Amino acid sequence: MSYETIVAQAGLADRIGKNRWPARLDILQSSTGLFLALFMWGHMFFVASILLGATPMWVITKFFEGYFIFGASHYWLVSCVVAFVAVVFVLHAGLAVRKFPINYRQLRTIRAHAAEMRHEDTTLWTWQVYTGFLLFFFASAHLYQMLVWPEKIGPYGSADRMWSDGLWPFYLTMLLAVELHGGIGLYRLAVKWGWPDAPREVLKKLKWALTAFFLVLGLATLGAYVKIGYEHRDHYGERYTPSWLVDQQQNNDAAAAPQAAPSGETK
Ligand code: HEM
Repeated sequence: MSYETIVAQAGLADRIGKNRWPARLDILQSSTGLFLALFMWGHMFFVASILLGATPMWVITKFFEGYFIFGASHYWLVSCVVAFVAVVFVLHAGLAVRKFPINYRQLRTIRAHAAEMRHEDTTLWTWQVYTGFLLFFFASAHLYQMLVWPEKIGPYGSADRMWSDGLWPFYLTMLLAVELHGGIGLYRLAVKWGWPDAPREVLKKLKWALTAFFLVLGLATLGAYVKIGYEHRDHYGERYTPSWLVDQQQNNDAAAAPQAAPSGETK
């Protein structure tokens, strides 16, 4: 098919001059998507620290709160990180809307084409649209909670949220959606921009391997929070403090307390 035919079929034959904005918006969409996918890899490892125990997860939480630098927790630091991620997320979602079917007729046409073509990459694209649509709601709700209540993040706080607050089905749905969406997104980026420069079959295997890895990690993590949340259900709201810190605090309190009156002394 000639260049002129493609331009004419896209309804652009009468256009004067070049409009660079679609390309710029596409680059912005790809770069925000790449940032979010890489962020999610880091996020999954941080959250999965619970698999190593409550104290490792507590250390990571306190690190983001600036506890080891300032000697006290500054929750607003976490909120700042969340706010930045939320802005990128909204930007990415806003740019993605350009490619969504905007009415039932368009949706039906896309589904019919995908079913007829049986072209795997087209099917993957439709999955990206469905999972992206779900994430509009799930990721927004999750980000809002992290933004507004950063002090509730922690081995017990997060576990209570999963079990006592009953949010594990929410997290399970979001986990499936985000891992499928991110995996397909990275694959499509690689195909689109030609990096890494490998055959599609190889990229596809890599994509499924990454998705499987993060799904298994995510499910194990979810299971660990649910288990801790169940065991902690009678102490809902109590915060986790490592035993060595409890000892240290008790020693400090004892040192700061006024000397006890000698025994036998009366007022
Ligand atoms: C800076 C922003 C974010 C922070 C601080 C954050 C923090 C957390 C924390 C602490 C948990 C453990 C459960 C809890 O306490 O609620 C969690 C779980 C989860 N988050 Fe985020 N999150 C952020 C952004 C995102 C985004 C953008 C997504 C994408 C949709 C996401 C998806 C998930 C999923 C799927 C889980 C469950 C993981 C599992 O159980 O394996 N998070 N997040």
